[in-house]
Amino acid sequence: MQSFTCSKLPPHNGLGAIITLFLFSFFTSVTITCSAKPHLKSSNTEFIKTSCAETLYPELCYKTLKPYASLIHTSPMELANASLTISLKGAQSASNMVKNLSKQHNLSPKEASAIMDCVETMGDSVDDLQQSLVAMEGLDGPDFAIKMSDIQTWVSAALTNEDTCMDGFSREKGMNRKIKVIIRRYIVKVSKLTSIALAFINRLSSA
Ligand SMILES: *[C@@H]1O[C@H](CO)[C@@H](O)[C@H](O)[C@H]1NC(C)=O
Ligand SMILES: *[C@@H]1O[C@H](CO)[C@@H](O)[C@H](O)[C@H]1NC(C)=O
Repeated sequence: MQSFTCSKLPPHNGLGAIITLFLFSFFTSVTITCSAKPHLKSSNTEFIKTSCAETLYPELCYKTLKPYASLIHTSPMELANASLTISLKGAQSASNMVKNLSKQHNLSPKEASAIMDCVETMGDSVDDLQQSLVAMEGLDGPDFAIKMSDIQTWVSAALTNEDTCMDGFSREKGMNRKIKVIIRRYIVKVSKLTSIALAFINRLSSA
């Protein structure tokens, strides 16, 4: 079975060509795909690209949100929601990672203490993002401004907690370099993802 797309239709032959191809396909069971979907799809990713360009981390933003294009379409609300979901997933895995690190036995007291602080702040960050995602569900009901302001507060708090975790490792001297690198890789990324989500949420509130 063969298939044709719109771009493979002969140019300038208009309706005649379409009817001919239709009859042709009817009798030969060649499928002709001629829907508006390819165009829509590209406008979905275009929306994500232009929206991401306004954040501090356009590339990370586009790379992580592109797989959600068919859910987001061109909705600023779905964009903020998807971005928040990605940020929560990142925070959960970073939180698990620091919990794992805290179970290592060869930690100095300083390292153990910085990691325990991180376990706490990352746990708070996960809670804040989770709360925000729940509140997003009810945003189209009454009290938009109050709910929006709660979400902004929680996502900002999540970002602060992530930065606090990071700072614990940057500030302290004599930390195991390997641990520092692992923590940095996870937390810096999460904090960028959260900053992106906050940008989209702030834009919702000012729309
Ligand atoms: C943490 O440890 C658990 C159990 O060992 C493992 O399944 C999980 O993948 C680890 N998570 C991270 C983020 O390292
Ligand atoms: C936000 O995304 C989650 C999945 O990540 C979905 O379950 C939920 O319905 C979405 N909420 C809104 C308001 O679109």
